[in-house]
Amino acid sequence: MKISVITGASSGMGRDFVRMIDKIEDCDEIWVIARRKDKLEEITSETGKVIRPIELDLSKEKNIKAYGKMLKDAGEIEVTALVNAAGFGKFGDFESIPLQEQMNMIDLNCKALMAVTYLTLPYMPEGSRVYQLGSLSAFQPVPYITTYGATKAFVLSFSRALNKELEKRNIKMIAICPGWVRTEFFDRAVKDDTIKYYNKFFTSAEVVRRAIYDMYKGRDVSVCGASIRGQVLLTKLLPHKLVMKIWCKQQKK
Ligand SMILES: NC(=O)c1ccc[n+]([C@@H]2O[C@H](COP(=O)([O-])OP(=O)(O)OC[C@H]3O[C@@H](n4cnc5c(N)ncnc54)[C@H](OP(=O)(O)O)[C@@H]3O)[C@@H](O)[C@H]2O)c1
Repeated sequence: MKISVITGASSGMGRDFVRMIDKIEDCDEIWVIARRKDKLEEITSETGKVIRPIELDLSKEKNIKAYGKMLKDAGEIEVTALVNAAGFGKFGDFESIPLQEQMNMIDLNCKALMAVTYLTLPYMPEGSRVYQLGSLSAFQPVPYITTYGATKAFVLSFSRALNKELEKRNIKMIAICPGWVRTEFFDRAVKDDTIKYYNKFFTSAEVVRRAIYDMYKGRDVSVCGASIRGQVLLTKLLPHKLVMKIWCKQQKK
């Protein structure tokens, strides 16, 4: 049996990935993972393929092990596509964000993404694809989004390096690095007005479409929108001290 696995599938970009994978992947089942089972179950009526909702908090190590066991117990399976979209951010002064939340961000955005990738890869045949949700904040240090930005720098570096390693198995991996995307992400990330200035917002469907386009072009990084690609270029050309200064000025810091 061929399956696709999508984490963070209950909303935002993960959910749009379910819709797209349903259309483009030649698989029998889509495993959708998140904490809110009701939201995952809603998706079952939206797709042509069989959906298997899996309620897991991936920031907990015991649930990572449970995911590994599910793969093992599934019998003869091939995972042709994996999307790691589970993730969250917390914006604000570093010292104002509780330590537990900072550690949880690292557990989910870095450790779970790496572990789900590690556990899934043995089931992935030649020609399969892995989509990793990074962020524009991966390209530079971002004050007031400090820990979140650092987790995304991990995702970018990890995904590009592993994509290179996986050439020998003909498995493609892409780091998706969008700017602001209108999703539920902000309900959790924003608790005050520390971040005052947001430039353009994209829809999650736009970002997902671009990511799939870039994947099939053979790219290892996907950045949606010409203006955001321009920003990425500037982070490569300008000293990061200056880039941070401009960002802080925009945020009136
Ligand atoms: N929105 C943006 O502006 C933006 C920009 C750049 C990058 N990103 C990244 O894109 C990814 C998707 O975010 P989004 O914008 O689509 O936000 P979203 O709508 O909030 O989606 C996040 C998903 O992650 C799941 N999730 C959160 N905590 C989890 C946990 N402990 N265990 C398992 N699943 C968990 C959520 O489901 P449950 O709550 O049901 O668990 C949800 O399905 C994230 O990695 C985010 O950092 C977002």
